Amino acid sequence: MKIVLLCAVYLFVFQSIAAFAGSPVLPKGYLSWQKSDRKIETDKKSLFYGIHYMYADKKAMQGYGAGNKFPEGSRIVVEFFNIKGNTGDDGSKNMVVLMQKDKKRKETGGWLFAGFGADGKASGIDPVKNCFDCHQKEAAQKDYVISTIKDFKH
Ligand code: HEC
Repeated sequence: MKIVLLCAVYLFVFQSIAAFAGSPVLPKGYLSWQKSDRKIETDKKSLFYGIHYMYADKKAMQGYGAGNKFPEGSRIVVEFFNIKGNTGDDGSKNMVVLMQKDKKRKETGGWLFAGFGADGKASGIDPVKNCFDCHQKEAAQKDYVISTIKDFKH
């Protein structure tokens, strides 16, 4: 019991330090959020080549419902998978990305952008060059969120 408690305290302190140091943390339990349709990108030149699923929390779903106007704190996660051989089935997970509405992040449109490996560890990707530039180009009129409520209707 003591050990469990100690571990919990360590984990809490560690996560707080990680958050404080600016290293983003993948939200726990996102697999139970609203899930999008299965998306397949077959263009090998695309960053999104492969299969992906988006997950939106309650606030983000409100944002989609309002025509892409997202309340502070909204979170959207995308999980990416390789395409398995010729079957077209989901292969192994290769990347996870997160957008979290955070008004302090002025340089990236009021969103935290973060990339993670399949293991959930922050990949240290540059959120302006590697994320925001493209989202700004694609969705400046949609609060920088490219997908819409239609992607969650199934
Ligand atoms: C080359 C363009 C491009 C780059 C670079 C890019 N994205 Fe995206 N992103 C997209 C597209 C296109 C979609 C919509 C996918 C769909 O509708 O299935 C998307 C969707 C998302 C979503 C779901 C919400 C939304 O906007 O639809 C998140 C979260 C996300 N990207 C985060 C990131 C992060 C974090 C990075 C940097 C590590 C990144 N993206 C880099 C094009 C890009």
